[in-house]
Amino acid sequence: MLSVVICVGSSCHVRGSDAVAATFERLIAEGGLADQVELVGAFCMDACSMGVSVRVGEKVYRGVTPEGAETFFQDEVLSRLPA
Ligand code: FES
Repeated sequence: MLSVVICVGSSCHVRGSDAVAATFERLIAEGGLADQVELVGAFCMDACSMGVSVRVGEKVYRGVTPEGAETFFQDEVLSRLPA
Protein backbone atom coordinates (compact mmCIF):
# COMPACT_ATOMS: atom_id res chain seq x y z
CA MET A 1 0.00 0.00 0.00
CA LEU A 2 1.42 3.34 -1.03
CA SER A 3 0.56 6.16 1.33
CA VAL A 4 -0.20 9.60 -0.06
CA VAL A 5 -0.37 12.19 2.68
CA ILE A 6 -1.83 15.61 1.96
CA CYS A 7 -1.10 18.49 4.28
CA VAL A 8 -4.30 20.02 5.59
CA GLY A 9 -2.56 22.60 7.75
CA SER A 10 -3.96 26.09 7.49
CA SER A 11 -1.48 27.40 4.94
CA CYS A 12 -1.90 24.43 2.61
CA HIS A 13 -5.65 24.55 3.15
CA VAL A 14 -5.70 28.12 1.90
CA ARG A 15 -3.68 27.07 -1.14
CA GLY A 16 -6.16 24.39 -2.10
CA SER A 17 -5.40 21.16 -0.27
CA ASP A 18 -9.10 20.27 -0.35
CA ALA A 19 -9.13 20.49 -4.13
CA VAL A 20 -5.92 18.47 -4.39
CA ALA A 21 -7.42 15.81 -2.14
CA ALA A 22 -10.63 15.74 -4.18
CA THR A 23 -8.66 15.24 -7.39
CA PHE A 24 -6.61 12.43 -5.85
CA GLU A 25 -9.78 10.79 -4.52
CA ARG A 26 -11.37 10.92 -7.95
CA LEU A 27 -8.32 9.46 -9.66
CA ILE A 28 -8.08 6.67 -7.08
CA ALA A 29 -11.76 5.83 -7.63
CA GLU A 30 -11.54 6.02 -11.42
CA GLY A 31 -8.45 3.87 -11.47
CA GLY A 32 -9.79 1.30 -9.02
CA LEU A 33 -6.74 1.97 -6.86
CA ALA A 34 -8.33 1.96 -3.41
CA ASP A 35 -6.48 -1.22 -2.46
CA GLN A 36 -3.15 0.19 -3.62
CA VAL A 37 -3.17 3.82 -2.55
CA GLU A 38 -4.01 5.08 0.92
CA LEU A 39 -4.97 8.75 1.00
CA VAL A 40 -4.62 10.48 4.32
CA GLY A 41 -4.39 14.00 5.70
CA ALA A 42 -1.72 15.36 7.99
CA PHE A 43 -0.92 18.62 9.62
CA CYS A 44 1.84 21.02 8.74
CA MET A 45 4.91 19.56 7.04
CA ASP A 46 7.02 22.69 7.56
CA ALA A 47 6.89 23.87 3.97
CA CYS A 48 4.04 26.30 4.27
CA SER A 49 5.26 28.98 1.91
CA MET A 50 5.37 26.74 -1.12
CA GLY A 51 1.84 25.59 -1.73
CA VAL A 52 0.22 22.31 -0.87
CA SER A 53 2.64 19.78 0.57
CA VAL A 54 2.16 16.12 -0.30
CA ARG A 55 4.13 13.13 0.90
CA VAL A 56 4.24 10.04 -1.28
CA GLY A 57 5.83 7.18 0.57
CA GLU A 58 8.82 8.79 2.24
CA LYS A 59 9.24 11.69 -0.15
CA VAL A 60 7.77 15.13 0.50
CA TYR A 61 6.81 17.30 -2.44
CA ARG A 62 6.10 20.97 -2.01
CA GLY A 63 4.08 23.32 -4.08
CA VAL A 64 1.42 20.97 -5.44
CA THR A 65 -1.42 23.00 -6.89
CA PRO A 66 -5.07 22.13 -7.55
CA GLU A 67 -4.41 22.69 -11.27
CA GLY A 68 -1.39 20.43 -11.25
CA ALA A 69 -2.84 17.72 -9.02
CA GLU A 70 -3.81 15.32 -11.80
CA THR A 71 -0.43 15.51 -13.49
CA PHE A 72 1.29 15.16 -10.13
CA PHE A 73 -0.73 12.04 -9.38
CA GLN A 74 0.17 10.50 -12.70
CA ASP A 75 3.85 11.36 -12.44
CA GLU A 76 4.54 10.72 -8.78
CA VAL A 77 1.91 8.25 -7.59
CA LEU A 78 0.92 6.04 -10.52
CA SER A 79 4.55 5.67 -11.51
CA ARG A 80 5.30 4.07 -8.14
CA LEU A 81 2.62 1.43 -8.31
CA PRO A 82 3.45 -2.04 -9.54
CA ALA A 83 2.38 -2.47 -13.16
S1 FES B 1 0.46 24.05 6.39
FE1 FES B 1 1.11 22.60 4.92
S2 FES B 1 3.24 22.59 5.11
FE2 FES B 1 2.60 23.95 6.64
